[in-house]
Amino acid sequence: MEREGKEHHLMSEWVKVEAGEIGDGEITAVPVGERMVAIANVGGNLHAFDDVCTHQHCSLAEGDLDGLVIECPCHGSQFDITSGEVVNGPATEPIDVFEAREEDGQLLVALE
Ligand code: FES
Repeated sequence: MEREGKEHHLMSEWVKVEAGEIGDGEITAVPVGERMVAIANVGGNLHAFDDVCTHQHCSLAEGDLDGLVIECPCHGSQFDITSGEVVNGPATEPIDVFEAREEDGQLLVALE
């Protein structure tokens, strides 16, 4: 099990993204590889997660952030952006979350 976890980690790939400035409390959606990823700045920390709601595919970047919980603009599903877990429905499936960091002014997101 442990070994699998390690290999899994090695597979993740840091991808450069052009997100521009993301101010504190703001969210931006950017294409990363084949998917749209939302990147939120919460108190100076960057959090990257699926932009696509698992309920009916609305853009979560257009929703409202309450601390570390994002609320979908369409039907109000809420997800924890650190774990991806559903906090409130109607969505039942979690979203994917990704590591994000800034390096020399360049934003990087870890895709698996
Ligand atoms: S599409 Fe997000 S709650 Fe329905």
